[in-house]
Formats: sequence, structure tokens, C-alpha cells
Amino acid sequence: MEQKPLTVTTPTASYDIHVGANILQRLPTYLGQLGLEGQLWLVSDSAVYPHYGAALEHTLREAGYRVQSFTVPSGETSKDLATTAQLYDWMINGNVERQDTVLALGGGVVGDLAGFAAATVLRGIALIQLPTTLLAMVDSAIGGKTGVNHALGKNLIGAFHQPRLVLSDVTTLGTLAPRELCAGWAEVIKHGVIRDADLFARLEAQATAMTSITDVADVTQLASLGKLIRQAAAVKVQIVNADERESGERMLLNYGHTLGHALEAAASYGTLLHGEAVAVGMHLAAQISQRLGMCDTTLVERQQHLLHAYGLSTVMPSGIDPIHLLTLTSRDKKVRSGKVRWIMPTAIGHATVRTDIPEAVVQTVLEDAIHTML
Ligand SMILES: NC(=O)c1ccc[n+]([C@@H]2O[C@H](COP(=O)([O-])OP(=O)(O)OC[C@H]3O[C@@H](n4cnc5c(N)ncnc54)[C@H](O)[C@@H]3O)[C@@H](O)[C@H]2O)c1
Repeated sequence: MEQKPLTVTTPTASYDIHVGANILQRLPTYLGQLGLEGQLWLVSDSAVYPHYGAALEHTLREAGYRVQSFTVPSGETSKDLATTAQLYDWMINGNVERQDTVLALGGGVVGDLAGFAAATVLRGIALIQLPTTLLAMVDSAIGGKTGVNHALGKNLIGAFHQPRLVLSDVTTLGTLAPRELCAGWAEVIKHGVIRDADLFARLEAQATAMTSITDVADVTQLASLGKLIRQAAAVKVQIVNADERESGERMLLNYGHTLGHALEAAASYGTLLHGEAVAVGMHLAAQISQRLGMCDTTLVERQQHLLHAYGLSTVMPSGIDPIHLLTLTSRDKKVRSGKVRWIMPTAIGHATVRTDIPEAVVQTVLEDAIHTML
């Protein structure tokens, strides 16, 4: 049931992304095809390793690979320099060599953390992304951004380091918490809005079947899920192929993130999942675009309806002050020369980057959003 792989091709790398059910067990074959014969350093987290890590290690050993594993605590707090240092200690004490490979088995946290360790140990060794969350499959595992958080902000330390392969085994989503799955749908919907009207329409048609993976043995459901994930991942691939270092088009992927990041910070990190904040951010961004006459109300309504259908709220969390939110948006790292960069949808499947959005319009939309929930 595996589909044709997608291929990332940038000035620095070329690699395939495979999406399918039960494909983790094929890792030894892919390693052989890539000529990766060194020791394998499997990094996972405490929620993922018990489900898939031990079985994967067994498969790799049976195929003759030397593999060691390291499990970090589940959650964003593991994405820091202290945990990176633990990974360095583990690998250097274990005599890591240049021809070795890091395997990142988990969500975006493990992918970013293990990816950063792979990018920097011995000035960079091979990396394979094995994403186990929806967000990681359609977004974070693709494109080579790796990094960790600093006490002063998220993702402030990092490196571009493209993986040699991405294997998205959709069966692993069967153990993901429903709330995490829904948060991942926000990024999938985002890809439809910014680049792929057909993906958006498919999401509309299939909404009811996709908000929980009730049975990993349900071949039909996994096949439909795999197709949607592949199509959403293809949007990221196209954008990364055109703009690896985020100097232009890659900024479109920040749709919903300007206010989303501010909301995450205002609601204090951890209250809202990233995807949940992005969903509200997308709704607000679409309203700003509509107020400025850049898109019609149908876009705002269709997007809102789709977000709701995938279990996401578009309501501003309580207790948020619009002025505080505005201040936080101007601190966002996507600010360039003092101007906030907004990603504005213009039609389903199309969006544009703007730095000339009047603050007064943003404030009115935010005040209205807060007023609506009172
Ligand atoms: N590098 C990039 O381009 C990029 C893009 C977007 C987001 N990110 C980063 O990704 C991170 C968020 O990623 P995420 O949403 O995947 O979060 P995550 O990695 O924290 O995973 C979410 C939760 O689900 C658990 N989990 C993961 N897979 C599971 C599975 N199959 N079964 C059971 N539990 C499972 C994890 O242990 C965790 O508790 C953030 O740090 C963000 O900055 C990076």
C-alpha cells in the first residue's frame, strides 16, 4: 500500500520520502540502497520508543546492523542544549564515526533534537527521519530544519541538515493521542490553503473518517490517510525544493503562525498545542485578508468549517489581551526590518507574503474575535 515516493531536491541534497503503512520494517532495505553501513544511533522519546523502538532495533539487528538507542523524555522540554549534550556524550562515548547514521524516531521534538545532534556531531553525520506524528510527517521531518530551544525563545539554535531519507509509517498514528492528531490536521489544512486547492477539497470530502485512527488494521482508512499525508507532504516538498533556506516562498509555510506563535506565548506555552494555536491564527489571518479585500468571505467560512470538521477550535482562548498579542507578534522572529511578515490567503490554494498589513486592521480583527467569545 506504499505510494510512489516524493523526492526533495535542493542545491545541497536529494532524498526520498516514503509514506505508507507498516513501512518502518523496510528500513534495512532502504539503508542498504543508500549504502549506509555504519553504526545506527536511534533516538526516540519515552512515549514512542515502547511502541516502535524496540521492534525496530530488533529488525535492524536481524538485518546485521549495529544499533544503539537513546530515549529522551516525551515533550518539548527535551528540545534543549542540555539534552543535546547528553546525546553527544552518548555518541562520543560509543565511538561515533563519520559514516554512522542517526535515526530520529518520533514527532517534531525528536526530529529537531536528533537532527541537530546529527548535524553537529563530528561536523555532521547522516540522518534519517522516522516521523510518528501527523505534524512531523507533513512538515517537520521534511526540509532539513533542525534545532533546539533556548531559554529566551523557541528554535533559536539550529542548523540546516537535510535527512538522507524520510519514512512516514502511517500505522504509527494509531497510538497518537487524538488531540495531537487533530493538531497535526491544522498543518495539513494549512498546506491546502496556501498551495493545493485539490487537497483542501479532498479534506472537505473525507473529514468525518480522519479525526481518529480507530483501527490500524483498517486498510482502507490507512490508505486514505496515507494519500492525504502524501499530498500534504508534497506541498512542503515543492516549497523546500524552490526555497531551501527560507528566503522567499518557504515563508508561506508560516501561514497562521504569526498570530499562532503569539497566542502560544500569550496563553503560556503548553496550554495550547502548536497546531491548535495555528488553527486560531489561520482563522484570524484569513479574516484580516478578507477585511483588506484580499480574499472573499467564502474562504474564511470554508476554512473555518474545515478546521472545525478536523476537531480544531477557531475561538480565541479566554483571557487574551489584543494589545499584548500585537506586541508579541512584532517580537516574532519572522519580523524583518521592523516589519511583521504576514501570510495572507488570497484564494483556496493561494497565499502571499505581505509586510504592509496595517496594525489597526489586525487590532480590529483581534478585538472582534475577543468580543465574539464574550
Ligand atoms: N523542523 C521543522 O521544520 C519544524 C516544523 C514544524 C514544527 N517543528 C517542531 O516540531 C515540534 C512539535 O512536533 P510534534 O507536534 O510532533 O510534537 P512531539 O514530538 O512533542 O509529539 C507530540 C506528543 O506525541 C507523542 N508521540 C509522538 N508520536 C507518537 C505516536 N506515534 N504514538 C504515541 N505518542 C506519540 C510524543 O511523545 C509527544 O508527547 C516543535 O518543537 C516544533 O518547533 C519543526
